[in-house]
Formats: sequence, C-alpha cells, structure tokens
Amino acid sequence: MGGKTRRKLWSGRFTEETDRLVEVFTASLPFDMRLYDHDIEGSIAHCRMLEKQGIIPPADAGKILEALAELRTEIGSGAFRFVQSDEDIHMAIERGLIERIGPAGGKVHTGRSRNDQVSLDMRLYLRDEIGEILKLVAGLQKTFIALARRELDTIMPGYTHMQKAQPVLLSHYLLAFREMLGRDATRLAECLERVNVMPLGSAALAGTSLPLDRKYTARLLGFKSISANSMDAVADRDFVAEFIFDASLLMMHLSRFCEDLIIWSSGEFGFVEISDAYTTGSSIMPQKKNPDVAELVRGKTGRVYGNLVKILTVLKGLPMTYNRDLQEDKEPLFDTVDTVKMSLMVLNGMAGNLTFNRPRMLEEAAKGFSTATDVAEYLVTYGVPFREAHGIVGRLVAHCIAKGKDLSDLSLREFRKFYTGFDEGVYAVIPVKKAVNARQTIGGTARKEVLKQIGEAEKKGKSKRIKDKG
Ligand code: ARG
Repeated sequence: MGGKTRRKLWSGRFTEETDRLVEVFTASLPFDMRLYDHDIEGSIAHCRMLEKQGIIPPADAGKILEALAELRTEIGSGAFRFVQSDEDIHMAIERGLIERIGPAGGKVHTGRSRNDQVSLDMRLYLRDEIGEILKLVAGLQKTFIALARRELDTIMPGYTHMQKAQPVLLSHYLLAFREMLGRDATRLAECLERVNVMPLGSAALAGTSLPLDRKYTARLLGFKSISANSMDAVADRDFVAEFIFDASLLMMHLSRFCEDLIIWSSGEFGFVEISDAYTTGSSIMPQKKNPDVAELVRGKTGRVYGNLVKILTVLKGLPMTYNRDLQEDKEPLFDTVDTVKMSLMVLNGMAGNLTFNRPRMLEEAAKGFSTATDVAEYLVTYGVPFREAHGIVGRLVAHCIAKGKDLSDLSLREFRKFYTGFDEGVYAVIPVKKAVNARQTIGGTARKEVLKQIGEAEKKGKSKRIKDKG
C-alpha cells in the first residue's frame, strides 16, 4: 500500500487533512479488500440500472463498465496500487475509476451510499461463501455415510457420562454426526434466505430522490427479494450474527467429533489410528504421534464463538441507523468463514483416513456389564415390572463384581438365586452382538435399522446432488 495521502472523495467540506493515525485507525481496506470482486459486481449492476433509468448517459455507463472490468482484473492480479488514504475498498475502486476515465467515473455512486453498498457487498460475499460451506458440509456428510457403510459390523461401547453404557454399532455413531451436520446445513440454508435480500437503493438511510429501479438491480444480481425498509437495510447486520451462530453450532459438532477422536486415539483407548498425514510429532519425544488437527478444530471452535460474541456486542448498543462500529462486522465474519471452511476440509480428509481397531472396540464393548439392560428387558418379557427387573440385575452385577465374574460366567443356579424365573434364554441376550441387533426401534442401533438409515442417507445425498445441479 502506498503511503501518499491524497484528497478524499468526501473531502468537499473539509479544510484540514486527515491525521495520519486516524487514517490508519479508520481504514478497513486492509481487510475489506477481499470484497473487491463483489463490490465491482454490485457497481456493474447499479451502473446498468442507472443507465436503463436514464439517470446516466449510455456513453458514461459504457466507460464505467469497461473500467470496472479492467479494475477487476487489475486488483485480482495484484497490479492495482492501493493507497493509505483509500480508507476502504469502495473508495479505492471509485478512485481507480475516476483516475481511469475522469469525472464520468464519479457517476457510479449516484443514488448510492457506502452504507447500502457495504451491506450489499457483505450479502453478496456471504451468499457465495454459504454456498461453498454447504458443499463442504455435504462432502463431510458423504464421508460419514461411506465410513458408516464400511464399519457396519464394528461394535463399539456407547457411553453416557463417559461411562460405558451399551454396545452400539460404530456406524450408528457415525450417522449421528451425519444428522447433526444435516441440521447445520438446514440452518445455513435458511440463513441464506435472509442474506439473499438486496439492500441497494436504501442509500445513506432514507432512500433517494432519484428514480432507481431496485427490482431490476436485484434481478441483475440474482437476489430473490429487495429490502423493505431503507433504515433497516443500512442499520442491521443480523444476517452476519445469524451466520456466525450457525457456524458456531457447526464447529461445536465438529469439535465434539474431534474430542472423541482425541480420546479414542490415546494408548489407553486404542480405538482408532489417525493416519500419519493428519497427525504431528513431538519436538522432544520421538515416540509421539499427536492428534493436533483434531485439537485445533476443537480450539478453533472457541475462536468462532468469540466472533459471535464480537458481532453481538458490536450491534447491541447502536443507535439507528448506520454507525461506523458496523465496520467491525467484517473481521469476525471473514475469520469465521475461513475457519469453518478450513476445518471442514481438513476434517473431511482426516475422517476418510481413519483406521478403527475393530477387535479393540469389540473387546471394550463387551466389558463393564454393558448388556445388563438386556437382561433386565429379558425379565420384562416374563412379566417382571421393569423397576424390579432393574433391581434384580443390579444385585446380579454386584454379585459378579464381588466374584470377579462376567454375567455370562454365571450358572443358571446362580441366576436363580436372584430371581427364580430365570431360564436358559438369559444366555442368549448377553452377547453384545445380540444386544445390538435387538435394538430395533426406529433410530436404534440394530444392524438392520442402521442399514436402513444408511440407505436413506445415501438416497438423500444423491437427490441433493441432483437438485444442486438442476
Ligand atoms: N468501510 C465502511 C464499513 O465497513 C463502509 C461504510 C462507511 N460509510 C460511512 N458512511 N462512513 O462499514
């Protein structure tokens, strides 16, 4: 960025130059530069509308459009020279335009303020990025479904309170994340509806006396609707906060998956091996292989939450309508977009390359009386009230612990000491595989049920891809 101070585009009523420190302090250019493409896209549509409405002559419009296209390439290639006094991307582009084609360049800002312009840019940008994020989420869902298919016969211990609870299929666990991601995608798609509203024409806050055709501009830019109230349009960034909230939930889901991977990859658990490409070593301990990627996704979740608090705090005390505080919407938004995209990409790669230690998982699934509930449910089928059955099996478990035995090690005589109605059938419900496949409720962990869920998930994924293409 060049250091030369130039006269500002808004400096008509000013006699003194801006203080250098103030220039640095107020500038958003260092970060809003990334909006350049969307800013130019908006200006092109606005210019075409101004021409159609006879507000600017076709000759000027032609020059503006040509120069905007050139500026687009120049900024894209890095050849455009930004200067400190540009303040933000909107003014940098307008300056570039005027330097190129003279006073005609100054016509592009007719009936427009940076207040509606910046809201437009943010909406155009976020619209694209939500589209990208949705694709990445769908990709990760697909990976989870593929893993679920691959691990259909892997039994693992399911936990509550981080205590062994009941055996489940690993596929069932993996599909749980597919569900969570599905809701994340739905939320983002709904957010997109509210982002996809065209604010241009609101001008500074009150609209304009010039005969703009807002609907035409919206059509050119592919917006579904236009904002209904100019004050609302320039004042609010609820769509930014909403997006960051949706992103926070998404990151929370990724973080919880990562947390499991971190625990499962420990020597103590030994349930999963994260491939070398997705782990890092220790600078001092040669034997170490650390799950840093998973840890960073977990850590970066905190960063996205921070962004949510930032934007909510910026918004809460603002008087109507636009205030410069709103410039602080950009960094949390950009940082969230970058963090979410990177996390999704790296996690997708890591998840696809996991190796689960099936024998280890099965071994642990069978421990800890994980099928005690099945024994109680077996008694229920003999008419024992569940609460009583619970007590009987609880005493059985205590007996087993005292004797250092497993439930399956007990003789029928021992079983009958606790309840006379026990028969040979009890041995059939104890094995973990039996216990898993007995849970046939809709959404349960039985192989048959999980297989059905996989089929439905695959079908949904396919029809979504067809819809996206169509
Ligand atoms: N850089 C400003 C922002 O990000 C653009 C709008 C400035 N508008 C104004 N009237 N000062 O919000």
